[in-house]
Amino acid sequence: MSEENVSVSLSSRKIRSLYDFLSLFYNLITWYEAGAQKKALEIADMKEGAKVLEVGFGTGKNLSKCAKKVGNTGKVYGIDISSKMLNRARRSIRDCDLSEKTDLVLGDASEEPFLESSFDVIFSSYVLDLIDTPTIPRILSEFKRLLKPGGRVILVSLTKGSKWFDNMKLYEWIYARSPSLLGGCRPITLARYLQQSGFRHIGKKFVRAGFLMPTEIAWADKE
Ligand SMILES: C[S@@+](CC[C@H](N)C(=O)[O-])C[C@H]1O[C@@H](n2cnc3c(N)ncnc32)[C@H](O)[C@@H]1O
Repeated sequence: MSEENVSVSLSSRKIRSLYDFLSLFYNLITWYEAGAQKKALEIADMKEGAKVLEVGFGTGKNLSKCAKKVGNTGKVYGIDISSKMLNRARRSIRDCDLSEKTDLVLGDASEEPFLESSFDVIFSSYVLDLIDTPTIPRILSEFKRLLKPGGRVILVSLTKGSKWFDNMKLYEWIYARSPSLLGGCRPITLARYLQQSGFRHIGKKFVRAGFLMPTEIAWADKE
C-alpha cells in the first residue's frame, strides 16, 4: 500500500468557501463519523480542569462533549477557518448552555493566535486530511508549540485500509477529478507525521467509520 498522500489541489480560500457551504447540512452527511470520534475522545482521556483545543471544530459536534469532560474548572478553545462553521458551532454550544466554557475563534490551523504551552490536549478530527502534504508538519509543529509539556494530541483522519473494498483507489480517482465532491478530504497516514514531528508515545488505531470509511485515530505526547 502506498504511503504517499495525494496532493491537495484546493486553496485555503476554496476550502473555506466549501465548508461555509457544507455547514448548512454538514451533520446530515457525516453521521457515520460519530463512532470514530467517540473512540478518539475516549483515548484523549480529557481530565476535569483540562484546557483543550479543538482544531477545525466544524459544526461543533465534539466541542460540547469536550466541554462536559473538562467540567467546571476546565475550558475548551477552538479554531476553524470557516465563519459559517463558527456561527453554527457557537449556536450549538449556546443551545447546550456551554458558551461560558468555550472560546471559539476564526483562523487557520497553521497560524494559531494562542500562547505557547497553553493546552493539555489538542484534538482535531477529519481536518489534516484536507491540508496539503507540505503544510501538515507545519501544523503539527504549531500543535507542539501550543501543548504543555506532557500534553497530548489526538487526531482523526480518513486513511487507506488493506482490503480491496477500502484501499481507496476509486475514492482517489474521484478525488483527482473533483475534490470538492468529497469535502476536500483524501486518505493520509497520521502516525507517520507525528513521528516525523518529534512527538513521543505514538499510538494508532484503525477503524471503519460507519462500517465503511477507513479512518485512522492517532495520538502522541509532547516531550
Ligand atoms: C471535515 S470538517 C470536520 C469538522 C469536525 N472536526 C468534525 O469532525 O465534525 C473540517 C473542518 O476543518 C475546517 N478547516 C479546514 N481547513 C482548516 C484550517 N486550515 N484551519 C482551521 N480549520 C480548518 C473546516 O472549515 C471544517 O470546519
